[in-house]
Amino acid sequence: MTYNQVRQQYRDDGNLNARIHLHARYSTNTYPWFRWVFDHLHLPAAARVLELGCGPGDLWRENRERVPAGWRVTLTDTSPGMLAAARRQVERPVSLSVADAQALPCSGARFDAVLAHHMLYHVPHRERALAEVRRVLKPGGAFYAATNGQRHMLAMWSLLTPFVPDVLERVQRVGCGFTLENGAAQLAPWFEDVALYRYENDLAITDAGAVLAYVRSSNALMDAELSADQWAALAATIDARIAAQGALHVPKATGLFVAT
Ligand SMILES: C[S@@+](CC[C@H](N)C(=O)[O-])C[C@H]1O[C@@H](n2cnc3c(N)ncnc32)[C@H](O)[C@@H]1O
Repeated sequence: MTYNQVRQQYRDDGNLNARIHLHARYSTNTYPWFRWVFDHLHLPAAARVLELGCGPGDLWRENRERVPAGWRVTLTDTSPGMLAAARRQVERPVSLSVADAQALPCSGARFDAVLAHHMLYHVPHRERALAEVRRVLKPGGAFYAATNGQRHMLAMWSLLTPFVPDVLERVQRVGCGFTLENGAAQLAPWFEDVALYRYENDLAITDAGAVLAYVRSSNALMDAELSADQWAALAATIDARIAAQGALHVPKATGLFVAT
C-alpha cells in the first residue's frame, strides 16, 4: 500500500469505524479489546503517555473512568481528520497534535510510555519510527504496540478469491510489515525485554451486510473493484454459510507487544 493510499484510507474515521463495528458486534470474546489493552498499562500514578497513530482515540474513550488524574496524555496521528474525531470523542483533557511516528516533534526522553496500536504496519520506515520511540522514552519506560497475526481474518477474505484471485496476497501485503510473528525481531534491537500477549477472539458473523461494509471500507482490495453482480454473489455466499452453520466463523489473531 502506498503512502497516499494510507492517507486516503484514514483521512477521517469513517472507514475505520465501519471495520470496528464488525469487531464490536460479532466478537466471541465479550471482554472489550481496548479494556484489555488498557489492563496491560502498568504505569505510575503520575506519568506522561504518548500515543502514535491514535486514530479516533477509542482507547481513551473506552477507558475514560480508568485514566489516573496524574497522567498527561498526548495523542498524535498523521491524519487531521482522525485527530478531529479524537477531539470530539475523548472527553478528558489530552493534547492532540499532527505528528508522523518517523519524525516526532519533541526533544529529549520525556515519556513513561509510548503506544502504537495497529499502526506500525503502515509506517514505511519502521526502524526510523522505533528509533524515535526509543529517543522519546525515559530510561525504564515502556513501549506498547498492538498488531495482528499473519492469518488474521483470512477466512473472511478468502471468500473474495473467486472475484479477486490474489486477494489474500493483497491483504497480507498491507499488514505483513509488523505482525505477531515478526514484531519481536523488529523490536529486539531497541529493547532489552519484549513480551507478547495474545487476545483470544474470533468472529461469529450473522449478517452478510456487515461483511460487505467491512470489505468496502478496506483498501486491501485497492484497485480491484467488484461489480454489482460480484457484490451480490459474495452476499449470497455469506448468507448460505450463515444458513448452514448458524454464523460465518472467522478466526482472528490479535495481540500486544510490551517492550521495555
Ligand atoms: C488502523 S488505524 C489505528 C488507529 C488506532 N490506533 C486504533 O487502534 O484504533 C492506523 C492509524 O495510524 C495512522 N498513521 C498511519 N501512518 C502513520 C504515521 N507514519 N505516523 C503516525 N500515524 C500514522 C493513520 O492515520 C490511522 O489513524
